[in-house]
Amino acid sequence: MPTSHPYYLASRPKAPNDDLEVTDKYSGECIARVALADAAAVDEAIAAASAARAAMRAFPPDARRDVLEHCVLRFRERAEELAQLLCAEAGKPIGDARGEVSRLIDTFREAAAESTRIGGEVHELQISPRTRGYRGMSQRVPVGVCSFITPFNFPLNLVAHKVAPAIAAGCPFVLKPSEKTPLGALLIGGVLAETDLPLGAFSVLPCRVEDATALVEDDRIALLSFTGGLVGWDLKARAGRKKVVLELGGNAACIVDADPGAALDHVVERLVLGAYYQSGQSCISVQRILVHRSLIDALRPRLVEAVSKLRTGDPRDEHTFIGPMIDEDAARRVEDWIDEACRAGATRLAGGARKGRMLPATLLENVPRDARLQRQEAFGPVALIEPFDEFDDALSIVNDSDFGLQAGVFTASLDHAMRAWDRLEVGGVIIGDVPSFRVDTMPYGGVKGSGLGREGVRYAIEDMTEPRLLVIRGS
Ligand code: SIN
Repeated sequence: MPTSHPYYLASRPKAPNDDLEVTDKYSGECIARVALADAAAVDEAIAAASAARAAMRAFPPDARRDVLEHCVLRFRERAEELAQLLCAEAGKPIGDARGEVSRLIDTFREAAAESTRIGGEVHELQISPRTRGYRGMSQRVPVGVCSFITPFNFPLNLVAHKVAPAIAAGCPFVLKPSEKTPLGALLIGGVLAETDLPLGAFSVLPCRVEDATALVEDDRIALLSFTGGLVGWDLKARAGRKKVVLELGGNAACIVDADPGAALDHVVERLVLGAYYQSGQSCISVQRILVHRSLIDALRPRLVEAVSKLRTGDPRDEHTFIGPMIDEDAARRVEDWIDEACRAGATRLAGGARKGRMLPATLLENVPRDARLQRQEAFGPVALIEPFDEFDDALSIVNDSDFGLQAGVFTASLDHAMRAWDRLEVGGVIIGDVPSFRVDTMPYGGVKGSGLGREGVRYAIEDMTEPRLLVIRGS
């Protein structure tokens, strides 16, 4: 029997309908029916959040910390339930699902710690005889109402990256989770409803894109934070005076240098994990593997063997590595891109036929530079390998992209590592590992088409607060 779920409007559960059906992404069965918000509900949520601004601002830091710590406690208690939920609504293999739950807990725990550390600054104002006797200092104040739009691929932790810093910063918010995976966000909403956050401080509203216009355009909102695809740039164009944070995609590359600084088997293990975990549905999944020509004949068979061994199947099975993609359209699109690359001369080293949403892990070589698999974000279980001769050539290939989120470099050379850090046009360079590495406190975000601003608890709090200056004229 499908379960029923209210949405959270102005901190309260409400279920005016059960119009949104949530399916198990492996079996296709309906597992839940969820209340779907319309534009009027979104407007009411923004009004309530706006009215809660003063109360949130006055809600003391230790009380914000207590709210976040309550969440940590409840998520720990409900960890396995959360993982099973992810497994069902996102088709995420159970191992990855448990990993995401532990990151959710990390993100809330770190936000709890940060909530009592949001300090200020003392400014030296005496820079000339004119300013003698003046003293300056600033405190950080919440920006006001935030709107959050989150994607399907991390239904808990990418919600956490917006919600937890907002609570720490003292900002009321309205969240629109992905319609494909709303259950994780609603569970977080349910836990928040157990706390004494000021009334109206939060809303969690699954809704259709056309009903969410106000989350982008309404002037009562001070900050819009969006994680998703390139549509983020259109949202920014419509956002008016709001601050906008965009965490968009990428076609992440990983360089394997002539001396990678690690055993090839280890490099292969990391590449396979980085390229294919949760069916490549991550913004920092490894899409382009650039291998020094001297290593390619040794690396290719190892990679092919490891990729061919990945178990595809039911995400609830502990041995499954590749589960379903989020829907059949997504699987069909990636399949089309693979076929297109093969027609243009690429060699398929591993992979096979798609069955519905299930697309086997695929590895290609000789993919032309203008193929969509090279240039766009695949967001699926597919990667390509390509040789390079000089390290600087590899850097140029990485930079030959409209995106710039993270890049990985396996190298034993400190000089190469530093050169990569200096020259790669990305938000983060990971030495000795894949670009898919992320710790939830590190500054995370991209350049070029990959986005604007940084997440990572402290960096999100910085965006959600602004300095308010105090100047005192002495005698
Ligand atoms: C993303 O796909 O945007 C986030 C990846 C991560 O948090 O690991």
